Amino acid sequence: MDTTALTDAGTDFQSRLIDWYDANARDLPWRNDPSLYKTVVSEFMLQQTQVKTVLPYFAAWLRDYPDFATLAAATEEQVLKSWEGLGYYSRARNLHKLANELTALSDLPTDAKSWQAFPGIGPYAAAAICSISFSAPNAVVDGNVVRILSRLVADQKQYKTTTDAAKSYQILAAQLLNTARPGDHNQAMMELGATLCQKQKPQCLLCPVSKLCQARAAGIEESLPRLDKTQFEKITVDRAWIASDRGILLHKIPAAAKRMKGLHEIPTLEQLDLPKPKSKPLLERKRSITKYRITERFFPFESKTVANPLPADCLWAAPNTIAALPFSGPHRKWIAELLLM
Ligand code: ADE
Repeated sequence: MDTTALTDAGTDFQSRLIDWYDANARDLPWRNDPSLYKTVVSEFMLQQTQVKTVLPYFAAWLRDYPDFATLAAATEEQVLKSWEGLGYYSRARNLHKLANELTALSDLPTDAKSWQAFPGIGPYAAAAICSISFSAPNAVVDGNVVRILSRLVADQKQYKTTTDAAKSYQILAAQLLNTARPGDHNQAMMELGATLCQKQKPQCLLCPVSKLCQARAAGIEESLPRLDKTQFEKITVDRAWIASDRGILLHKIPAAAKRMKGLHEIPTLEQLDLPKPKSKPLLERKRSITKYRITERFFPFESKTVANPLPADCLWAAPNTIAALPFSGPHRKWIAELLLM
């Protein structure tokens, strides 16, 4: 790949991009009257999650936790409940921890390296937060930026993952960064990737930098970047649906678990040490988490089949307590469906 033509045109690239952003940036709530708090919350929510999904959560979050101090004072259970449905719950726990760490500091660091030492902050979030809030000269590189840069320089190299590609684009992204307005430049790159330079059918006719795009010149923009196909893995999870006069049997994911600690779920047969029934499941649902394509099956059991005392981390939840409990992913919806069956 030849990056010299693009880096030679660096200031032209920067001014075309920033002029387009100034005229076309979407009106997003973290861009209005911006603050460090809004930037941090939005960057946590936007990891792995689309803008349109984040918008209602962001509004509710700012209403319930208007600043770092309010967030730090909330319980983890409240925070997880507010995050319910956004997925990747370690983000919520890390944001809560971060609020606690920041409120204990008298001087906030303003450089990306220091920010990477905080909970839940990787190179991307550190660059985004520090460039947007402190005008620090750090370029963000995520999937959107990889797509834009690989097309601009017509890079036909095959990458294993977006993370691998992002590493190899860090230098070019830094060379192109508009250091007079690094936060706006980074947001303009995200905006271009999200609204015009999309994976399929990029809208080159509207693109402010199409003249500088080598993939467009060669007519190969839709085939870039070249990333290995994700290998999906199919799995089946069998769960027990048990309702009694004490309520619904739930499993609370213990603090020692790797993921989703503190969230409730309908227990698996394995957690209850129950055999797989020969009968058909009462309900079957499909979902995806990262590379897993999961079939969730729910089998009804009588309450007397459950061990007494209850297996580890299990509890009976009375129907009127369910609304207040934090659940993992779609379990609340499944419970509502199962209750109607
Ligand atoms: N994705 C990550 N950060 C973003 C931001 N600040 N604006 C829009 N999309 C984003």
